Amino acid sequence: MKIAVFAGDGIGPEVTEQAVRVLKELPLPLSLITGDVGGAAYRLHGHPLPDETLVAAREADAVLFGAVGDPSCDTLDRHLRPEQAVLGLRRELGLFANLRPAKMFPGMEDASGLKPEIASAIDLLIVRELNGDVYFGEKGMRTTDAGLREGYDIMSYDEGEVRRIARAGFEAARKRRGKLCSVDKANVLETSQLWRDVVIEVAKDYADVELTHMYVDNAAMQLVRNPGQFDVIVTGNLFGDILSDQASMCVGSIGLLASASLGERRTQHGTFGLYEPIHGSAPDIAGQGIANPLATILSAADLLRHSLGQAAQAERVESAVAATLSDGVLGRDLGGTATTAEIGDAVIARL
Ligand code: IPM
Ligand code: MG
Repeated sequence: MKIAVFAGDGIGPEVTEQAVRVLKELPLPLSLITGDVGGAAYRLHGHPLPDETLVAAREADAVLFGAVGDPSCDTLDRHLRPEQAVLGLRRELGLFANLRPAKMFPGMEDASGLKPEIASAIDLLIVRELNGDVYFGEKGMRTTDAGLREGYDIMSYDEGEVRRIARAGFEAARKRRGKLCSVDKANVLETSQLWRDVVIEVAKDYADVELTHMYVDNAAMQLVRNPGQFDVIVTGNLFGDILSDQASMCVGSIGLLASASLGERRTQHGTFGLYEPIHGSAPDIAGQGIANPLATILSAADLLRHSLGQAAQAERVESAVAATLSDGVLGRDLGGTATTAEIGDAVIARL
């Protein structure tokens, strides 16, 4: 079982280290290889996603990814910026379906910015499209006729891209509570009109799933008003990026949300995927040993489930995380004082 570990920038190495410790505790024949990504890779190789990193990813059953982003790289040409590492991996490896679950952990209701009785009902999954949208359209800087600088990014989806992510959304809903909410901005955007039309077409194959549609602005509002109404949300790359950060704070901390990015490639034990916390590199707290590693540890659990076919081990890790939280071992993001390593220790002790 080959796992490529790309720790990246900022708190990426700190949180990844704890997830790797947890993986090594399990009775599995794991072989871990590391690779450079992000600003760290740029400094070593002159590129945020060196060829050898991409090769290592392709040879593995799964990628465990930390975070990328480095303020000192923000003035580089866009293709050399740290973020291109994760965008490049998603695109090159055909990882088009990003699963971002948000579920209230028992006992953590008070950490949410929402009222506890509203927050306690959160159990949703955002299925975010990851290979298209304004992220990957033509972009650039130009000068208008009036001599003004103008930046542009083209938003587009073709029907094939929408169909495959819609299917991923329906399939996920089928395994959960059977409700799918497609989020778009069809009242304004043509991209969204096509999205909605195609989702409705795909729905014909999923009569057992209840489909609703919501404009993204309303979805942002509903997510804080009554998050318990959502089961699965399927949405485009940009809207999914924004709504998943919002969902994380409804749960209590962005340090708790994991994500799985999947495509079509099968491995010996499951589906090839890339697993990462939804948070970024948090340069403001990097190197202090205070980042919450639970989102990365939960991402490793997803890795066990989807790419290695180890559902029982995944549940073991998830239970250990839940017990860590309910026992009050909390990082600063949740109002506690536990360090990154102490949280890792606590999870391992509860495995
Ligand atoms: C995420 C991140 C990335 C994204 C960045 C780092 C490129 O915000 O995974 O949500 O925008 O997708
Ligand atoms: Mg994001």
